[in-house]
Amino acid sequence: MHDILQALEAKRALARLGGGDKRIAAQHAKGKLTARERLELLFDEGSFEEWDMFVEHRCVDFGMADNKIPGDGVVTGYGMINGRLAFAFSQDFTVFGGALSEAHAEKICKVMDQAMKVGAPVIGLNDSGGARIQEGVASLGGYADVFQKNVLASGVIPQISMIMGPCAGGAVYSPAMTDFIFMVKDSSYMFVTGPEVVKTVTHEEVTAEELGGATTHNTKSGVADLSFENDVEALLMLRRFFNYLPLSNREKAPCRPSGDPASRLDLSLDTLVPDNPNKPYDIKELILKVVDDGDFFELQPDYAKNIVTGFARMEGQTVGIVANQPLVLAGCLDIKSSIKAARFVRFCDAFHIPVITFVDVPGFMPGTSQEYGGIIKHGAKLLYAYAEATVPKITVITRKAYGGAYDVMASKHLRGDVNFAWPNAEIAVMGAKGAVEIIFREDKKDPAKLAEREAEYKARFANPFVAGARGFIDDVIQPHETRKRICRSLAMLKDKKLENPWRKHGNIPL
Ligand code: HXC
Repeated sequence: MHDILQALEAKRALARLGGGDKRIAAQHAKGKLTARERLELLFDEGSFEEWDMFVEHRCVDFGMADNKIPGDGVVTGYGMINGRLAFAFSQDFTVFGGALSEAHAEKICKVMDQAMKVGAPVIGLNDSGGARIQEGVASLGGYADVFQKNVLASGVIPQISMIMGPCAGGAVYSPAMTDFIFMVKDSSYMFVTGPEVVKTVTHEEVTAEELGGATTHNTKSGVADLSFENDVEALLMLRRFFNYLPLSNREKAPCRPSGDPASRLDLSLDTLVPDNPNKPYDIKELILKVVDDGDFFELQPDYAKNIVTGFARMEGQTVGIVANQPLVLAGCLDIKSSIKAARFVRFCDAFHIPVITFVDVPGFMPGTSQEYGGIIKHGAKLLYAYAEATVPKITVITRKAYGGAYDVMASKHLRGDVNFAWPNAEIAVMGAKGAVEIIFREDKKDPAKLAEREAEYKARFANPFVAGARGFIDDVIQPHETRKRICRSLAMLKDKKLENPWRKHGNIPL
């Protein structure tokens, strides 16, 4: 028996060594941790249970029959993150460059299946050279199996991808179908075709970093949700992020009690919005002053900055925040911001997270580039997302809510549960100046008359009371009491029940 136990430990030690000391040193030299070191950081100490440590590939071509490393390039299993269950797979770049074989894919699918059965998130730590070249189509089949699981798990359990090395070719489509993609700066990249192919086909010279590095995907493409300085920061932040999420669509997000009173007033909010309606202000100041302990986990902070999205808590309960940002493009809605917010709202709705929307929006962005780019379809995504959402929806109009954008931003008409406006809010088809230039075109030659008309229009419509008179606004509130009023509304909505009519699935304008 003693020998058997020793043999088991020897087998385990071999598996833990992955591709060997030399390759581990090379991994460290690149500033990267190994697959197992990453899991140790991600999970509560000693809580990780590894599965399939002895799985080997079945490839016999190109000398692979004699080249087997137990575990086959991916470490899988489950553990606890701050005491809550999560499944994970962590690709081991020291073993065949983390390349995905049929067996490697089976291991990933196994944890995904189990995670769906028990209702717990799956976290993928990606660091892979892509399809295992020696295996050919068997590897491609493995990828497709993972893709299929990603889709079946979508909206059932949260799926998070951390890109910590190469992620290229079709391999990018598994992270792309998960809920969140985080990247590590300088050591990770994602692209469908690499720099060499790009050069051959389009004659563009571009580095891997420029083509698909963390900065590119966090600022230009919007593929990623956040980037981090290094592996350690990334994994610690992932633990923090995890605390906001429910384990599955069967339960609510955990409550983290806070000493921040629900009734806390903030008088500085009364002067947040400048008197001049064309002057910007930072909507993040409002968010930080309203949420528990000023703690806001922003997503995509460097992409489509004209809308702000992220998680926070109110009386300990996770909420999704969506806010127009007057500091950027006057907070107007364009293609990128509509898509960014729509995807966020849909995540919140799928996982029972109430959505709080702060509105200061002068409308949709005009222009040929927006129209040619399909702002009609993309803007409709946000409209659709808000309209289909059945989670509690609380909206606060802090200043402008003009035109179609008024409707879109979680208005009463889209089943907003509680719609507040600040006293200075302007809820109208458009700004007073634009409005009178259209309806009093004949007065255009007479600036004094036009100014008079503008003042008249402003007095009549540039306020929240016209909407209030119709019940489109439930109350006009003092800015300083915003937190209190939202907390009360959330408490009232705690057991909200609303269902959409049965259908196979809706047809969101993609
Ligand atoms: C098998 C691979 C591999 C792969 C790397 N390795 N990629 N083995 N299949 N796809 C092995 C290398 O042979 C090497 O083995 C070890 O991993 C480390 O690789 P290096 O090249 O030494 O590392 P580095 O210089 O850091 O370069 C990393 C890399 C490069 C950029 C990822 O290895 C590379 O370009 N690999 C090929 C990428 C690729 O074309 N993949 C297929 C993409 S198509 P030793 O034994 O020397 O340590 C695809 C389709 C998916 O993925 C489709 C899904 C639908």
